[in-house]
Amino acid sequence: MSFAVAIDGPAAAGKGTVSRAVAAHFGFAHLDTGLLYRAVGFAVLQGTNAVEAAQNLTAEVLENPDLRTPHVADAASKVALIPEVRAALVDFQRAFARRAGGAVLDGRDIGTVICPDAEAKLFVTASAEVRAERRFRELQERGIETSLDEVLADVRARDARDMERAEAPLRPADDAVQIDTSDMTIEQAVATAIAAIEARRGG
Ligand code: C5P
Repeated sequence: MSFAVAIDGPAAAGKGTVSRAVAAHFGFAHLDTGLLYRAVGFAVLQGTNAVEAAQNLTAEVLENPDLRTPHVADAASKVALIPEVRAALVDFQRAFARRAGGAVLDGRDIGTVICPDAEAKLFVTASAEVRAERRFRELQERGIETSLDEVLADVRARDARDMERAEAPLRPADDAVQIDTSDMTIEQAVATAIAAIEARRGG
């Protein structure tokens, strides 16, 4: 039996952490769909055509740790504007959502475009300042040189690009449960997400 959980929200809101914890809790498979766009962005930075890169993605490239740099995130949000790139990634994501045993997909358009019939939908958000602060600390821990101002500017630029684009813009699905993690610990955010999904499972 399949059970799809769609988790959307802006950059650095805690989606990834919540998604991994939710998947582990329910024993579901997890797909970080941002990695698909990052892999395409990374290929473009190396001179490949964006649409070709999207049509020829392989699972191995998603393991590349270089996909998790701010430079690649920026490239990802630019290729994410291209309708042909988005179209090339749809089938893979939909098949993943409907795999037997349950699936959690996190991204920007999972509850609205990829999986509008998901059994549970969450929209995880936090203020831009809180998200920038979290991302800044995470980058520092990984030894990536940057400043809080720079990270905040990046977060705002990426939010604007993701929310204002014509194709699959970032917005909560009408039936999504919204979770603002600004004043929550990770444990509180995860517990809130699990409770919201349990409610859908029970109903
Ligand atoms: O989630 P992450 O920060 O890794 O995503 C990188 C970029 O990929 C986002 O800023 C967004 O532009 C794009 N993306 C998207 N749709 C998704 C997931 C990510 O457009 N489902």
